[in-house]
Amino acid sequence: MEALRRARQEIDRIDAELARLYTERMAAAREIAACKQEAGLPIFDPAREREVLSAAASRIADPTLRPGYLALLRQLMDQSKLLQRAELLKSETVLPVLLPGGAYPVLVADGLLARAKEHLDLDRNVFIVTDSGVPARYARTLAAQCRRAELVTVPAGEASKSLRQFESILTGLQQGGWKRGDCVAAVGGGMVGDLAGFAAACYLRGIDFYHIPTTLLAMVDASVGGKTALNLGGVKNSVGAFSRPKAVLIDPSLPDTLPPRQFAGGMAEVVKMALTSDPALFSDLEQGRTIDRRELIVRALRIKIAVVEADEKEAGPRRVLNFGHTLGHGIEAARKGALLHGECVALGMLPMCSPDVRKRLHPLLTRLGLPTRVRTDPDEVLAAVVHDKKACEGGIETVYVEAPGCFRFEKIGLPVLRERLRLILEENAS
Ligand SMILES: NC(=O)c1ccc[n+]([C@@H]2O[C@H](COP(=O)([O-])OP(=O)(O)OC[C@H]3O[C@@H](n4cnc5c(N)ncnc54)[C@H](O)[C@@H]3O)[C@@H](O)[C@H]2O)c1
Repeated sequence: MEALRRARQEIDRIDAELARLYTERMAAAREIAACKQEAGLPIFDPAREREVLSAAASRIADPTLRPGYLALLRQLMDQSKLLQRAELLKSETVLPVLLPGGAYPVLVADGLLARAKEHLDLDRNVFIVTDSGVPARYARTLAAQCRRAELVTVPAGEASKSLRQFESILTGLQQGGWKRGDCVAAVGGGMVGDLAGFAAACYLRGIDFYHIPTTLLAMVDASVGGKTALNLGGVKNSVGAFSRPKAVLIDPSLPDTLPPRQFAGGMAEVVKMALTSDPALFSDLEQGRTIDRRELIVRALRIKIAVVEADEKEAGPRRVLNFGHTLGHGIEAARKGALLHGECVALGMLPMCSPDVRKRLHPLLTRLGLPTRVRTDPDEVLAAVVHDKKACEGGIETVYVEAPGCFRFEKIGLPVLRERLRLILEENAS
């Protein structure tokens, strides 16, 4: 037992030393950021990283310990880069997503697309996926900053989240001889992000993936959290993977070109996050306070990131992001694409909150240009809900909001859900 006590003391001493060294290393990283800023050098320096790793490998004599040490060092280097970015982008925002085994940054700043190469490692082959509805200049602006870029444009619309488009992207990568060190970048909304992200996760068992979202919905929701998916057999998001992006780069000016209806759809997701998790944001929205777009995105992202950090794989608290989605997905399926995802989320939230909250939510959704009533067949909605992945034994998993910032998970049966649905049906809506 004495030997155990001594060994533990030794571990404590080493941990204290590591904490001191970690602090020193980060201080040095800060200094490097200042020097790079002065010299106009990029944060990414792959050659230097390789040098550091190779020197580190030679320092560990025991070959069985080497991989673990290199993994630790890689994590340290990621932390340093996050810190350097935060230093370099004083007027900008770096929101790190800190997860077990690594972190990735979400960068938010006006005009960032034109300066993407300062923040992303584009000094390599970059396979850019966009869609036909996204202004072509966005993807071209990115392509112009890459060492070599290949640009693929899939048809706009949910139908492109298909095995067919997925296969065509993978075939493009394979036939072009794309390698592990190359990367995929999505320039588009949630559809392109889901499709390209899943392709990047699967090609060669996973290559780097950057998402540059161009819709409000993708900026505040879809681009962060590492969910990627395709639709199969008419079932939304039924095939996919959790796969972290290398970085997410958000230029808040890109949705300037978005049709107002699409913008409103994104606002539904902002309202969803505010209502469940940020009463102050909900009240700002409710009172119509002017919030600069960048600030709006950052406030919504802080909620999304906190939820993802707490539960990346949606085993527990992340399910709060499904608020409004259970009925929403049912309505989306029943209306066969006539309504946008965000519009269905708006409708889906109304029956899932207390009468007091509903009274406040109703005028806010109307002001944002979102629907509060729907003409649909309730049987079709409920059939789609049952088909949905959230339907489980003992009832359907839902999120119920009692008051802004105060929610609970609730399993309810179909008859209760049918009753709630009546609240938003065209004839019965109040
Ligand atoms: N992975 C996730 O965590 C997650 C979360 C939420 C939603 N999603 C998915 O995201 C998708 C919905 O995302 P979305 O609302 O961004 O839809 P979307 O990607 O289909 O884009 C909507 C439309 O806007 C066009 N567009 C995109 N950017 C534009 C711009 N800047 N200017 C003009 N037009 C532009 C597109 O061409 C498209 O026609 C769904 O497939 C949904 O399942 C994924």
